[in-house]
This record gives sequence, structure tokens and C-alpha cells, in this order.
Amino acid sequence: MLSNKIQDALNEQINAELWSAYLYLSMGLHFEAEGMPGIANWFKIQFQEEQAHATIFMNYINQRGGRVALKAIDAVPTSWESPLAAFKDTLEHEKKVTALINNLYALAEAEHDYATRDRLNWFVSEQVEEEDNCRTLIDKFTLIGDNGMGLYMLDQELGSRVYNAPAALGE
Ligand code: FEO
Repeated sequence: MLSNKIQDALNEQINAELWSAYLYLSMGLHFEAEGMPGIANWFKIQFQEEQAHATIFMNYINQRGGRVALKAIDAVPTSWESPLAAFKDTLEHEKKVTALINNLYALAEAEHDYATRDRLNWFVSEQVEEEDNCRTLIDKFTLIGDNGMGLYMLDQELGSRVYNAPAALGE
């Protein structure tokens, strides 16, 4: 059985993951409207990934006999001045998510809840990947600057990203 403290913290994390999903959906819609379908595709896949992250926590709470409590999702920004600005925002946001996961991990240890700590291991690795992906894209967008052909080609590249459901979703 989950302690109330852990259950509340996991429910907060579900809200944070859903807010992330909402943020990336907003980015996807923005770049779709701006005529950059590949970048829109990248963010819409990110939207799906964040929903999967929230679902992994929901499944886990239910597995442990707890109760999921869905809370209101705050509004998100609706426009970005450039793809570079959006990916910089994404990296800053993912750093905050990493800190949340680390805090949850520390709480699970303090509460001697080793099952929750074990569940969080997947997220610890996932955050390394999330931040690394953002840094790589920031580097690429910085490199091309205002070059229209470069932007067109990078948009094409991001259009080839496909969604793969995380393995942890089936656990
Ligand atoms: Fe669910 Fe992007 O962290």
C-alpha cells in the first residue's frame, strides 16, 4: 500500500506530466500553424510521450492499491518566436521535470518505499535522454541560424520522427 505522502507526490507528478503534454501539444499546434510540419510532428510525438509518462504513474498507483486524483491542468504558452526559442524552453522545462523526479526519488528513499524508487529508475534514465535530445536540437537550430534552406531540411528531418510507446507502459 502506498503512503499518503507518496500517493500525493505521485499524483502531483501525474499533473506535471500532463502539463508537459499540454505544453508540447501547444508547441506542435503553433509550428503547424507556422508552416513547419516536421517540427510540429516532433512536438506532437513529445505530447504522446508525456501522456505515456502520466499513464505509467497512473498504472503504478493502481497497481499499488492507491487512488489516482486528476487535478486541473494550468494553461500553457501559445506561441514562440522561433523553433530555437521553443527548444530552449523545452530544455528548461525538462530540467525542472528532472528535478521533480529526483525529489520523488529522494522521498521514496526517505519513506523506505523501494517499489516506488524502483519504478522511478526508468524515469531517471528517461530524463537524461530527454535533456540530451533537446541539447542536440538546440545545437542544430543554433548552427543553421536564419538559413531558410537549413530550416527547411531540419524540418524535414524532424518530420521523420515516429512514436514508440515506452516499454515501461506495459510493465
Ligand atoms: Fe515526462 Fe518530458 O518528461
